[in-house]
Amino acid sequence: MVKQKIKFPTIRVKNSGVVKMKFFNDFPDGNLVIGEGRRDIPFAIKRVYFINNLYNKIAKRGLHAHKKLEQVIFCVNGSFLLRLDDGRTQQSLRMDSPYYGVRLGPRLWHKMSDFSADCVILVLASDYFRESDYIRDYAAFQKHLKIKKD
Ligand code: TYD
Repeated sequence: MVKQKIKFPTIRVKNSGVVKMKFFNDFPDGNLVIGEGRRDIPFAIKRVYFINNLYNKIAKRGLHAHKKLEQVIFCVNGSFLLRLDDGRTQQSLRMDSPYYGVRLGPRLWHKMSDFSADCVILVLASDYFRESDYIRDYAAFQKHLKIKKD
């Protein structure tokens, strides 16, 4: 079987990057994709959540940034559009490969849209859920960036 070539996107926004996974995709019985905390995933994983049932074509998710939380987002099935915004640079990525994730570091606004009906999104997070870590207002996000310069 020919080994599939995986294309990794180039990420231009701050506090992000591609997280490459280990994979075995040459089995006749399906693919295996592996990431280990603190090794492939750049933090110890404390929380996992996934998003499915994305049949609503005009659904929008995300639209927030985090103050401290580190996350890595995957599209394990189907596809969606991930829009990243570090306050200066914006970038849209079509997420359609289960073989890599995208780091959603702190102070990075993100939006998810254009989901295929079979899309399944998996997110690994560095901490437990805390609403006080969210910035859900874009003007507040810009203000936060001014106070917390990198
Ligand atoms: P939110 O993070 O805004 O979802 P998304 O970015 O996917 O659009 O969360 C939606 C709701 O779910 C919000 O009320 C908070 C709640 N929630 C939890 O209680 N625990 C969690 O781990 C997450 C991710 C969300």
